[in-house]
Amino acid sequence: MGSVCLTLIAVLLLKNSVLACKAPDVVESEKDWWQTAQFYQIYPRSFMDSNGDGIGDINGITSKLDYLKEIGVTAAWLSPIFKSPMVDFGYDISSFYEIQPEYGTIDDLKNLIAKAKNLGLKIILDFVPNHASTENEWFKKSVKREKGFEDFFVWHDGYENPNGGKRLPPSNWIQAFRGSAWEWNDERKQFYLHQFAVQQADLNYRNPLVVEEMKRVLRYWLDMGVAGFRIDAVPVLFEALPDSSGRYPDEPLSGTTNDKDDHDYLTHIYTENQPETLDMVYQWRTVMDDYQRIHGGDTRVLLIETYAPAWFTMPMYGNSTTKGAHLPFNFNLITMLHKGLKATDLEKSIGAWLDKMPAGRTANWVTGNHDQRRTASRYGIELADTMNMLVMMLPGASITYQGEELGMIDGEISWADSVDPAACNSNPQIYEKFTRDPSRTPFQWSNSKNAGFSTAAKTWLPLAAAYETTNVEDERKSPKSHLNIYKALVNLRKQSKLLKNGTYRFKALSDSIFVLERSLNGEKLVLLVNVGNSASTINIRDFDVTLPETMKTSIMNVYSTKSEGITIQAGRIELSPYESLVLVKT
Ligand code: GLC
Repeated sequence: MGSVCLTLIAVLLLKNSVLACKAPDVVESEKDWWQTAQFYQIYPRSFMDSNGDGIGDINGITSKLDYLKEIGVTAAWLSPIFKSPMVDFGYDISSFYEIQPEYGTIDDLKNLIAKAKNLGLKIILDFVPNHASTENEWFKKSVKREKGFEDFFVWHDGYENPNGGKRLPPSNWIQAFRGSAWEWNDERKQFYLHQFAVQQADLNYRNPLVVEEMKRVLRYWLDMGVAGFRIDAVPVLFEALPDSSGRYPDEPLSGTTNDKDDHDYLTHIYTENQPETLDMVYQWRTVMDDYQRIHGGDTRVLLIETYAPAWFTMPMYGNSTTKGAHLPFNFNLITMLHKGLKATDLEKSIGAWLDKMPAGRTANWVTGNHDQRRTASRYGIELADTMNMLVMMLPGASITYQGEELGMIDGEISWADSVDPAACNSNPQIYEKFTRDPSRTPFQWSNSKNAGFSTAAKTWLPLAAAYETTNVEDERKSPKSHLNIYKALVNLRKQSKLLKNGTYRFKALSDSIFVLERSLNGEKLVLLVNVGNSASTINIRDFDVTLPETMKTSIMNVYSTKSEGITIQAGRIELSPYESLVLVKT
């Protein structure tokens, strides 16, 4: 451990206030592109519509590459653009090798990748390994037990119903979108497993043919020039094996809800986080590394979707002998926080990643995506900039979901306008608890018709009402907009060796005040956050006695009344309600 850090620990132990302190790279080290990258998630259906059908498309994305450049993106990951009946908006793939016609063609994708490359941007695709649409040829062949496809999916006879009537499913397992995870197929006369919608049949990863086919899918898109993959729904890839009598084990009740159709009704000890899944992630990493070895070029990355406990998420990075995902998504800033969050919640959720992450790995920070309510709605618009500040200033890669840079909030989607299966499989009384439509509304480019997203009479989801003021065009003009604060953060991040390589310390100074400090070779950056609705006066030299008496303001959120570049006394900093402030040494 570096001496700077040891000194700090000594000082802080004396003050009985030590928190996280790691000295990973006191010496500047060369990092690979993805380790300090700014990733940006595009939900293609809602980003930009180029042909006026009310649905976003690939050419729409290509037309907005300059915007991605403007906001400093390194790599954009696109939610699925493959052929699909759109039951789960592309996460139900009917051909893994084709593009959904309403999104464009293979040539459109090649054009996007080429134009992005010219601008120095990388494109990452979504790989959905767990399931295929029941419209997929593989499923149709499996239903017919065609040679080579008999066991492509997870089939089971189920059980005779002692009371007569329909056969009973093989186990009590529940799908993510309500109801049994088993569906009877009358042609094959067996049940198939679907951890998501009925139309999303689980592929059988215990079949080597499936494993090989899915690696072929990865190589096919790598050949097209993509920089890697975001991998969907990884924790549910494998299920426990049936016992010697062929019976799948029932899952225990969670006790958290009485709603028998709700996925949360059970504790998923047999359908999630199985050890075989880790091995499959390691195999996919080998595919990436081999590809690079053979074809050259930059590292092809794997970003893994893992809503799982740390004991399962951390080994996704790999183990002492095998490499795993470059970045298993860190969802702690989603799963461990809530509206009305306290500074102590921030401290816990950040520590829960950094303290558990294996040595030598790269952290990453996510506050939202297409499956969650918008960050600015979940935590309140007051914290929109603050969350971006944390994502940009914490060590490692940053990940932004389209619109977070604008402070986009949830759209209000009525039951009648709902299209998400998570909502539509419920009922008008409870759908708002499950719906993911509100965070998928069209991107807000301007305050003109359809927020500049589309010229269609009707867009696939209604616009969020806030587009009239929250949009790229208007925010570009206003110096203190969410967008311009985001851009300032990006510039700071790009220029700052300290943010790339520096050590970190963070602490909740009270219920409402949180501080993050980054240091490198005597340089320091401090982020000071007030998550509370009352003013507060802070002495940050109590937190770090080595800080100078005066510091300079650098970037402020919209709640700050301070100007940029002014000198303030480190021993007496007055923070307004919800103010967030980046300070540098004078
Ligand atoms: C992932 C996706 C989500 C999708 C599900 C099934 O969680 O992010 O949108 O519904 O997997 O593919």
